[in-house]
Amino acid sequence: MSTAIQEDKRKVTTHRLREMKDRGEKISMLTAYDYSMASIIDQAGMDVILVGDSASNVMAGNITTLPMTIDQIIYHGTSVMKGVTRSLVVVDMPFGTCSGNPMKSLEAAIRIMRETGADTLKIEGGEEIIEDIKKIIGAGIPVMGHLGLMPQSINKYGTYTVRAKDKEEAEKLLSDALLLEKAGCYAITLEKIPAKLAAEITNKLSIPTIGIGAGGGVDGQVLVMHDMLGINKNFSPKFLRRYEDLNTIITQAVKNYISDIKSRDFPNENESY
Ligand code: KIV
Repeated sequence: MSTAIQEDKRKVTTHRLREMKDRGEKISMLTAYDYSMASIIDQAGMDVILVGDSASNVMAGNITTLPMTIDQIIYHGTSVMKGVTRSLVVVDMPFGTCSGNPMKSLEAAIRIMRETGADTLKIEGGEEIIEDIKKIIGAGIPVMGHLGLMPQSINKYGTYTVRAKDKEEAEKLLSDALLLEKAGCYAITLEKIPAKLAAEITNKLSIPTIGIGAGGGVDGQVLVMHDMLGINKNFSPKFLRRYEDLNTIITQAVKNYISDIKSRDFPNENESY
């Protein structure tokens, strides 16, 4: 277990993430969508918990993140906040809630912050929504940017493949990252881009970068909880490291329960009143 992080019981803040970057301590981030898992992840010492709109996939069974509504993300954010004492909690702004109308985006951001009690928001996009991001940060709401593969734009890309492999897209990504830093973002998630580009961006920024499929040269790592715990069997991108095979473990436990009911082994005398 690494040193300072888990032993330090102080609440993680955006300021502390910046200090971690400055001293070269990697930032850990994982998604959570409910009270019970959020409490476990918080108690385990995670620096940042992301209430991701990946809930649309792993909780609601949708193919994309687009169906996620503001009411649904607020429900997940509120549940997570009840289980967390230490981790910094970041809530995703869902598709369509931050898209080029700064006043409307601010209203949505305020609603999410007020109703969930979360610490910060994460927003997908660069130059195209920079005025929205400035408006939100101007109102005192910390924003984590999100560049590279942006799942809310999947219909524009038409594929979940690695982004910014060509020079033009790589230059735009770097310029967006610099814009987000200038606008006041406290960190940026970089999703599924070449490791070399992610490291270059990380070195050029003074705010932390958190990677998913962006190699080891970034300031921190994020994964979707269901993926790293092996709850999903059908999602195996190259960047994913599975830390457990919960699908098999849960299936076996459920089978044992069914079998105990059928054989009348459960409940026994000690389990009865
Ligand atoms: O919604 C999410 O879980 C995310 C991560 C993939 C970074 O945005």
